[in-house]
Amino acid sequence: MNATRRILVTSALPYANGPIHIGHLVEYIQTDIWVRFQKQRGHECYYVCADDAHGTPIMLRAEQEGLTPEQLIGQIWQEHQADFADFLIEFDNYYSTHSPENRHYAELIYSRLDATGHISRRVITQAYDPEKQMFLPDRFIKGECPRCGAADQYGDSCESCGATYAPTDLKNPRSVISGATPITKESLHFFFKLADFEEMLGSWIASGSIQPQMANKLNEWFTAGLQEWDISRDAPYWGFEIPDAPGKYFYVWLDAPIGYMASFQNYCDRTGLRFNDFWSPDSTAEVYHFIGKDIAYFHILFWPAELTGAGFRKPTAVHCHGFLTVDGQKMSKSRGTFIKARTYLQHLRPEYLRYYFATKLNDGIDDLDLNFDDFLQRVNSDLVGKVVNIASRCASFITRRFDGQLASSLAEPVLYAEFVVASDSIAQAYEQREFGRAMREIMALADRANQYIDEKKPWALAKQPGSVTEVQAVCSMGLNLFRLLALYLKPVLPGVAAQVEQFLQIAPLSWNDLARPLLGHTIAEFKPLMQRVEMAQIMAIVEGSRENQPTAETAVAPAGSLIDDPISSIITIDDFTKIDLRVARIVKAEAVAGADKLVRLELDLGGETRQVFAGIKSAYTPEDLQGRLTVMVANLAPRKMRFGVSEGMVLAAGGKSGIYLLNPDSGAEPGMRVK
Ligand code: 2FM
Ligand code: ZN
Repeated sequence: MNATRRILVTSALPYANGPIHIGHLVEYIQTDIWVRFQKQRGHECYYVCADDAHGTPIMLRAEQEGLTPEQLIGQIWQEHQADFADFLIEFDNYYSTHSPENRHYAELIYSRLDATGHISRRVITQAYDPEKQMFLPDRFIKGECPRCGAADQYGDSCESCGATYAPTDLKNPRSVISGATPITKESLHFFFKLADFEEMLGSWIASGSIQPQMANKLNEWFTAGLQEWDISRDAPYWGFEIPDAPGKYFYVWLDAPIGYMASFQNYCDRTGLRFNDFWSPDSTAEVYHFIGKDIAYFHILFWPAELTGAGFRKPTAVHCHGFLTVDGQKMSKSRGTFIKARTYLQHLRPEYLRYYFATKLNDGIDDLDLNFDDFLQRVNSDLVGKVVNIASRCASFITRRFDGQLASSLAEPVLYAEFVVASDSIAQAYEQREFGRAMREIMALADRANQYIDEKKPWALAKQPGSVTEVQAVCSMGLNLFRLLALYLKPVLPGVAAQVEQFLQIAPLSWNDLARPLLGHTIAEFKPLMQRVEMAQIMAIVEGSRENQPTAETAVAPAGSLIDDPISSIITIDDFTKIDLRVARIVKAEAVAGADKLVRLELDLGGETRQVFAGIKSAYTPEDLQGRLTVMVANLAPRKMRFGVSEGMVLAAGGKSGIYLLNPDSGAEPGMRVK
């Protein structure tokens, strides 16, 4: 093994205004696996992170909830901590950018950049909300797209035609905060002169610090020219005030990456580690940032430039990953695929998702897909069917017949050596973040171990009076192979590895122990290590994620009264008449097995029968529904669901007090148009 390395690792800092979801978890799981691997290899490795606690959205969200920003970020910090811990993401320090250490480093970096001429100042004109009396970030202005006219588009880009523009180009703009028409207003801003670092960035990137796909992206940015970066915002703003500039604040993205340093400083202060060993320009330690590809600009341009300008070392490398899709599509609240970490944890143990993501991760930036059928099949077939199966096939013989005692020599030293030799390639795959390859190699070994047990058939040997020693030899061999698999999987499945350590009565599995098989050793009684995933559990997660959102199957009015709720967007009468609403009679209703909220309805539309899946099970039994009249959207595109095709949608009001199906007055007949 190589000499001990000193490594500092970070993941992107999640915003302190919302929960951790499975999209976030791709990155934290990826980083955590890599860090656990480094630690298990005996390296000195630290993993730090923090909540990204500043900026306008956090300020406004706190205001909406009647909290101070400090209260809001305090609450969210607790929730994030708990979600990470329960997903077995093991930070050495989890901090906040709203901290004295972060203020210190933000001011230090800014003042050093200013002193060396890398900060410029000039007056710019921006959109301003005259009612709320604040400058408006682009995402807080909406209006009609200047290119295609689509309504309700953000101030920077159109989701309908893809155009990008300045907020001042929007037609009929309005402030999302107050509804007022924005005016333009001048203000002095501070800029970081990124172009001063063009040469340095060119050679840093050429040194292999970023993935090849990102280097291509970067060349596009270089060709477009490195613009000055606006690092200041005007009051009211939630962040750190810029020294000697009353009413001016550091933009949240200025102090966010500095939060990596602040969290590490906080850790150093607690543990006595020396900050400068990792951050001084001549540091020999390694520093890695794991991030999503959407925030690469901040990490591979601004960040190394800022660090260099302020007299700190640059990262050794920035590792970008792609986004998560679910069943091939963007995560969606209405489809129930915007899954919060907590919702997942209510139904399944974290290691299933850790393993599934591991099988999909590599060192590229392509998006990765969570496909529920594939997830179920992978976990059940690999972890339960292959890995855990080895132990359950061998353990009971050792416990019952040999008092837990393993054989004193290896039955198949050559096979054991094959498993040990594979460690180099597996370790290399982990090191290069090719986790998918590592998992495939480990599963090939698991197949090999199962094949060995199939050939030796200890259950048959056990029935032959003269084969007692052989049963012990075969099962001890199987358990030794199992031990190596658990060791290789430990970065991905730390909880299972701990169960295995308890079962085998061994010290924490380490790569140093590979060559020494467990012989003449007493193990504990085997307890099931892992259950199969059931589709009903996955469906419960999806149902639990729909969360007061109107579903495709049941249109439920927003919670509360219309007076309390903002009306989302205005449609014309032409838009409305496109919706074909019809009276329908529920001729049959039945619960859907495996779905907590769904009822299958057969609806008579006056001659035509339709099948609709509706999320109303909590409010009605099938008997309540049978025979009733209701209103349905009859021209909704059919939607293929797990249980069948849904051919429309019934209408219901929904809120905190329950769900209420709409009913026409008596006299209405199936098939009548609702206008
Ligand atoms: O994009 C985001 O979610 C940011 N909160 C990431 C910040 S990463 C680092 F720079 F702080
Ligand atoms: Zn448009």
